[in-house]
Amino acid sequence: MTLTTLPDDARVRVDAGASRVWGEAVRPLTPDDPRAYYDWGFQSRLRDAARAAAPRVFDATIAAVRARLESAPHLVVVEGIDWSAGDALIVAVNAGFGRITAGGYQPPRGQIVSRLGVQTELAGPKGPMRGAERMHSDNGYRATPARLLTMVCHAPDPGGGGVTRIITARELRGAIAAQLGTDVERWFEETPLPWRVTDPHDGVRYTDGLAEIQGKLTAGRVLDTRGQGVAWRPILAGSDLLWSRRIIEDGFRLLGRTPSREVVARLDAFQGVLDGMAEWRVALRAGDYMVADNLRTVHSRTPLTERYAASTRLMLRCWVHDPVVGAPGGHGFPALRPKRP
Ligand SMILES: [Fe+2]
Repeated sequence: MTLTTLPDDARVRVDAGASRVWGEAVRPLTPDDPRAYYDWGFQSRLRDAARAAAPRVFDATIAAVRARLESAPHLVVVEGIDWSAGDALIVAVNAGFGRITAGGYQPPRGQIVSRLGVQTELAGPKGPMRGAERMHSDNGYRATPARLLTMVCHAPDPGGGGVTRIITARELRGAIAAQLGTDVERWFEETPLPWRVTDPHDGVRYTDGLAEIQGKLTAGRVLDTRGQGVAWRPILAGSDLLWSRRIIEDGFRLLGRTPSREVVARLDAFQGVLDGMAEWRVALRAGDYMVADNLRTVHSRTPLTERYAASTRLMLRCWVHDPVVGAPGGHGFPALRPKRP
């Protein structure tokens, strides 16, 4: 497998002094209850407070990251920020890109600034999250998946594991066309598949027996009382890509259907192409702030150190809607399609 390291110009350097000034500005606003961070009004207030303290550096940093995200591998590492002001500063900086989103409040993992680490995996309901080691998109179970995936590296894995792996949607799409043919490439763009969606926010409203997504009836039925539903959408949408085989299989299960042989063969073929792809690798160091385009890439991590339970790796992750997704009918990938006949 070919490995590529992050190009030097995908690193943005921030003056530590300026970032300390941002931190001082937001520190007094730190809430007693981290649930306050869910509110977009509060996120904006933190962003404005940090920005007002050193606006030129703040604006230049956001602009530099946005500009570099346009080029492969659609991942930028920002170096030099002093994060000692904690979550308030993490929220302030991320809100520079858009509204930060998260599922239900279940700390330490489930919160706006999510703690990704071995201890939070082991304490969580899923245990060790080996799925993180397979290429995937984040937020496939949401009606409106976040555009940006960001992480502040609090501590890297001491054994050198947990390195970010990334493949661009463009390269993957090219490989699918080359290896499977343009007809198959088109199938992935034109064939809506049932994705299990669990999030009642972001434009999904559940009514009696019907799941309404972005104002349009799509799923046709509510499948259980936990607010789960099915969103029909394809894997490819222009330059965007959303991939999680598990969530598509869950969607079929929720519908009480078995995927056709054709669908299974196509998903197998997609996985086969993905497994053979060259990838980019990014080893984050303490203090690094990674911003990646969740929809123009797929990502995973290398396995953690052999003594998995001893790993002290800790990443502080946010999901950010960029542009801001506010109301039903807002922006988001991929275009939801009417239910397949
Ligand atoms: Fe992920």
